[in-house]
Amino acid sequence: MSGRTVIVTGASSGIGEATARAFGLAGDRVVLTARRVDRLQRLAADLPESLVIQADLTQPGAVDRIVGETLNRYQTIEVLVNNAGIGQYNWIERLTEEEIQTEVTLNLIAPILLARAVLPSMLAQQRGVIINVSSVAGRIGVPTMAIYCATKSGLHGISEALYRELRPRGVHVCTIYPGGVKGTESGKRKRVRLGEAPDWLRLSTKQVAGMIVSLADRPRPRRIVPWFFSPVVAINNLLPGLVDAVTMRAARRVRRAQPSAPT
Ligand SMILES: NC(=O)c1ccc[n+]([C@@H]2O[C@H](COP(=O)([O-])OP(=O)(O)OC[C@H]3O[C@@H](n4cnc5c(N)ncnc54)[C@H](OP(=O)(O)O)[C@@H]3O)[C@@H](O)[C@H]2O)c1
Repeated sequence: MSGRTVIVTGASSGIGEATARAFGLAGDRVVLTARRVDRLQRLAADLPESLVIQADLTQPGAVDRIVGETLNRYQTIEVLVNNAGIGQYNWIERLTEEEIQTEVTLNLIAPILLARAVLPSMLAQQRGVIINVSSVAGRIGVPTMAIYCATKSGLHGISEALYRELRPRGVHVCTIYPGGVKGTESGKRKRVRLGEAPDWLRLSTKQVAGMIVSLADRPRPRRIVPWFFSPVVAINNLLPGLVDAVTMRAARRVRRAQPSAPT
């Protein structure tokens, strides 16, 4: 499919940049939004008919401005990719109130407000796809990732509810739950590392981007990627005590190896 208006948040790096590129190369009009405008402009130079909107999604008014400028330019919105997000991996008592507020606002409140803001246009056409980028961490609680897990499982909850609310009215809500992804900036910012899948088990940003574009073409409510995380999520649901033991042991090992870790 092509010729759609697609908003991609967090288009300045990682999964968002690859996704914006994939939509643009498929012939869609892409709205590129993030804070680092220089990176967005460089990407826009490769994507004819794209629109750059610099915005900090934690600031009041940002969502209405993005949707308003998009409608002014293109009149319709067919696809929204709620991708922008951060993960401040740390022990809970090491996070400041401001860090927690920022993470919740960016990862959860902004996607909710954006979905609400694009809906009038999508419902008027009885056509539209909202794709939320959650995470396997939204289905499995992981020590040192508590706030991230909370926001991504919040996104899981709203996505499932909205899918059931909006599907009969012509709008699809899809959620993608990636496991580890290589080649992103978020991976470099982790302050505590509980363990990471080896590179060969992780997807590239281009692979995740391809999956997001295919969700826009053939929407389905949920997709856990890579596939082998689906049984892991099922085990967490059926045998949470087993996953408690494994994750607590990993956290203990990291605490012992990190002399400054809280006791
Ligand atoms: N990497 C993984 O292994 C993985 C796994 C599962 C899910 N995810 C999810 O995938 C999404 C993309 O992450 P990524 O790994 O590609 O990370 P990334 O390379 O760090 O990209 C994050 C994007 O979010 C934007 N952003 C950050 N703060 C923002 C703010 N206040 N306002 C507006 N935009 C902001 C960044 O742009 P600016 O800094 O220019 O604003 C950047 O474009 C996130 O939701 C993440 O949780 C990632």
